[in-house]
Amino acid sequence: MPDTTTRPLTSAEVGIPPRHIDFQFPRDTERYFFYDGNPLASLLFVVFSGIFPPGERFFMESVRHFRDRIQDPVLKAQVSGFMGQEALHGREHERLNDVFREHGFDVDLPARYVRFGLRQLERFSPRLQLACTTMMEHFTAHLAEEWLTNQRLAESSNPQMLQLWYWHALEELEHKSVAYDVFELIGGTQKERKQAGWLVGIFVLLPVMAAWLRLLIKEGQLFNRQENRRGYQALFGRRALISNVLRHMPKFWRRRFHPRQQVTAALEDTWRTRLFGPQGELTSVYRAPTARF
Ligand SMILES: [Fe+2]
Ligand SMILES: [Fe+2]
Repeated sequence: MPDTTTRPLTSAEVGIPPRHIDFQFPRDTERYFFYDGNPLASLLFVVFSGIFPPGERFFMESVRHFRDRIQDPVLKAQVSGFMGQEALHGREHERLNDVFREHGFDVDLPARYVRFGLRQLERFSPRLQLACTTMMEHFTAHLAEEWLTNQRLAESSNPQMLQLWYWHALEELEHKSVAYDVFELIGGTQKERKQAGWLVGIFVLLPVMAAWLRLLIKEGQLFNRQENRRGYQALFGRRALISNVLRHMPKFWRRRFHPRQQVTAALEDTWRTRLFGPQGELTSVYRAPTARF
């Protein structure tokens, strides 16, 4: 353990380094990037990319509100890492959203819908906002694990496009406990976690579903039965991407819940090497972090 008597720990020293990456995004390729060009599934990820920048700002603000209560030097450094990683995710998804705009997707629509929902959440107490963040981080961490392990997704999607999502997924796993540790520090309760379930359902899930439906209509794909059936199976079928995430959601409301119960250290190691090791897929476009958060 490094000597911390003279200087604060860095976020890299606690395993949550914000990584600046210059992604090369695919242009002039197929319209739908995921699941062999499936519109339904691809549009869900367009929606996700659209909502990440405002969503991650909300996460950061809800944690920042309690930041000066943190005395523990390790948690302080973890919070810095969390802030840095989420800020960079937002920035890179903005760049990806520009690519989606070039492809003619109305990626501002999901952002607008979710911003409206998040503004409503901001009317609730900072404690409840943080509880909502911990719930969304629980969802994101399981989505991340799926992204990193789902063979079907890897085999049927644009590899250049996948790289940003792999980087994002790895970092979501690296910082998956941070918001919850702050929530525990302020004495967050199971009751608040239950309330967060309702709030996220109403103010985040509903806008996401509405945006997904509207994009599907705008793309003229609502009645593309064959593709929609295929996309539905890929997302919600047995052992499919989103089904695998949803079955972990009830754990969030257990009395003794903690994000570290999702054991992902080995998976993170594998992906750190694959993306940022000596021969890593992203090593050449990775710039060492300079900014502090
Ligand atoms: Fe993120
Ligand atoms: Fe996150």
